[in-house]
Amino acid sequence: MSVVPRAGRRAAIIQGLGTFLPERVVTNAALSERLDTTDEWIRSRTGIRERRWAESGTATGDLAVEAGARALKAASMSHVDVVVLATTTPDHPCPGTAPAVAARLGLGHAMAFDVSAVCTGFIYALATASSLIVAGLAESALVIGAETYSTILNPEDRSSAVIFGDGAGAAVLTAGDLAEPGALLGFDLGSDGEHADLITVPAGGSRQRAQDVEPDPADFYFTMRGREVFTHAVTRMGQSSKALLDRIGWPTASVDHLVGHQANVRILQSLADFLDIERRRAVVNLDRVGNTSAASIPLALADAVRLGTVQAGDRVLLSAFGGGLTWGSTALIWPEIESC
Ligand code: ACO
Repeated sequence: MSVVPRAGRRAAIIQGLGTFLPERVVTNAALSERLDTTDEWIRSRTGIRERRWAESGTATGDLAVEAGARALKAASMSHVDVVVLATTTPDHPCPGTAPAVAARLGLGHAMAFDVSAVCTGFIYALATASSLIVAGLAESALVIGAETYSTILNPEDRSSAVIFGDGAGAAVLTAGDLAEPGALLGFDLGSDGEHADLITVPAGGSRQRAQDVEPDPADFYFTMRGREVFTHAVTRMGQSSKALLDRIGWPTASVDHLVGHQANVRILQSLADFLDIERRRAVVNLDRVGNTSAASIPLALADAVRLGTVQAGDRVLLSAFGGGLTWGSTALIWPEIESC
């Protein structure tokens, strides 16, 4: 589905970015000590050198509060009308994590809810908040992607334990005009539930009930059929990006920066090739943070802004893919704003 707000109309504008990473660095060498893997395998197959894992006792909401506070500070704002939190690793199955995050950020009685779209979560959350703004239901929004995958990784599964990291990224949106820099120019969003089993945490929901069958402890861990997911990731992000660019009238050659979901450097290179965008235009920060799922896009974007790679006036394409399967893309001209 592609939806583009009509030109000259109300739009959601990015006003500030904030990120937070837990302090604890977990290197490939550290993982090689307890798993049958090597630094060489992880680096050559994924591009990841290290990732951050939260200490025991730190929950997703804690990371979200830190990133959210930094985004609000960057935007010089102390109030928003809505908080949308994208996560696969909520603090509890019930209630959502967003209301507690909003309360801890001093945002009073702002509307607050979670979005569950795995690694596409931040793009889905941006689309949701943007739609609330365009519809006039909100003047401002805080959109957060936050994850603690370290809490759902099977420590025995070398194929997933080496890939994921913890972290949070956030963006503040306000109502403005579609012609302004920073306006989210449109969205392409989609899903394919026929392949829901490729990425799943089997237990902990209503499908596999603790009171009916004694669950296998391994079923509470994250599982992914990586090789099959790889192909879907490139095709779905590629097709979604193309659909979006067609709708907003940007030739692929005009894209200055491709901020794709940071799952694997080979996926990002294949995506750039698929789109006929030079590989050097693909933003990469997964070498330092791994795959942070819903936090991946804002962490990569903020990193590129901090390093001066993404500058005011640049054309930026964001595209993500994740479990569900889900995918989504959006684009904007980068504004003069702060990143904390
Ligand atoms: N160390 C050493 N060997 C390993 C490791 C490891 N950490 N992990 C797997 N292997 C082995 C496998 O057992 C397999 O061995 P075999 O051939 O003897 O059976 C071999 O390496 C190849 O395994 P593949 O899974 O085919 O490896 P691949 O090159 O595909 O890399 C990876 C795996 C990194 C997971 C890759 O498939 C990938 O990045 N997939 C996409 C991930 C993605 O895009 N996810 C989307 C979003 S994530 C989300 O939504 C939560």
